[in-house]
Amino acid sequence: MGLTLGEGGTPLVGADRMSERLGCELFLKCEGLNPTGSFKDRGMAVAVSRAVEDGVRAVVCASTGNTAASAAAYAARAGLLAVVLEPEGAVASGKLAQARALGAKVLEVRGSFDDALDAARELGSRGDFALVNSLSPHRIEGQKAAAHELVDELGGAPDALALPYGGGGNTRAYFKGFSEAGALPRFVLGQAADRAKTVASAIRITAPAHADAVQEALMATSGVVVTLADAEILEAWRALAHEEGVFCEPASAASVAGLLKRAAAGADLSQSTAVCVLTGSGLKDPDTAMTVDAVRHETAARVGDVERVLGW
Ligand code: F0G
Repeated sequence: MGLTLGEGGTPLVGADRMSERLGCELFLKCEGLNPTGSFKDRGMAVAVSRAVEDGVRAVVCASTGNTAASAAAYAARAGLLAVVLEPEGAVASGKLAQARALGAKVLEVRGSFDDALDAARELGSRGDFALVNSLSPHRIEGQKAAAHELVDELGGAPDALALPYGGGGNTRAYFKGFSEAGALPRFVLGQAADRAKTVASAIRITAPAHADAVQEALMATSGVVVTLADAEILEAWRALAHEEGVFCEPASAASVAGLLKRAAAGADLSQSTAVCVLTGSGLKDPDTAMTVDAVRHETAARVGDVERVLGW
């Protein structure tokens, strides 16, 4: 048996109200339904398998939270230690709790994700550790299966594929997978305007490690990067929840926000099919959800009081 927690095979769901807004047929690829709640599991299964074969003592990664949780789960299953370097005070609470509960050695780094990545790369260059960030080609190989899965589900590539753009590893993997399938969608990448401080903490990355590969994907597909204010990301995040019943983490909504912004700028999406990849579960970041939708309603447990609160 290979190392697996049942990753992949995630739901692809239609989004009727959002399709109407955009004037295209939109599908949501719900990658938050992977075993640890994010898209990282597809590549992590492969990267940790290789680490076992290579006989290392531990896996190491830098992370804004999801990579760490995924590394922790697969390392636990493989009987390896996971050492995760996370920017102090900048990781959503669900992710931090997850990595700890899964037995990873969680080191909170005084610095940014980019600082943590420098340290993880250096550790990974020593014999003891396998680096399981997306700089590992094994992560990309596992992750690219998501593109093949979409081609199978839709009978070809969609016209547009929208992704959040942090470090660009996911973009690179989808580009590789679609290229292999011989069917390329136009890439629409949503990135935060303030990469250092965005509310979408998963993509607080100032120096994208895969910038060159992302450029190649954009050139090959006439793709675009859409730069988004936090308010635009949160607007899309709320619309997904309220109008489609899909609760993703804020970074994931950058994909939808990117398409909405292009449509608002007059891009003609009619007659086209688009897929937005929702990279992580909303449960990863309860604090943002509680702050953004902060309204509390209190009532006595009496029907009359409930009706009064409802204004009925
Ligand atoms: N969405 C989510 C939920 C993420 O966790 C990440 C990256 C991205 C999008 C961006 O993907 O970097 O491949 O462009 N998370 C990494 C982590 C940095 O450590 O979990 P990318």
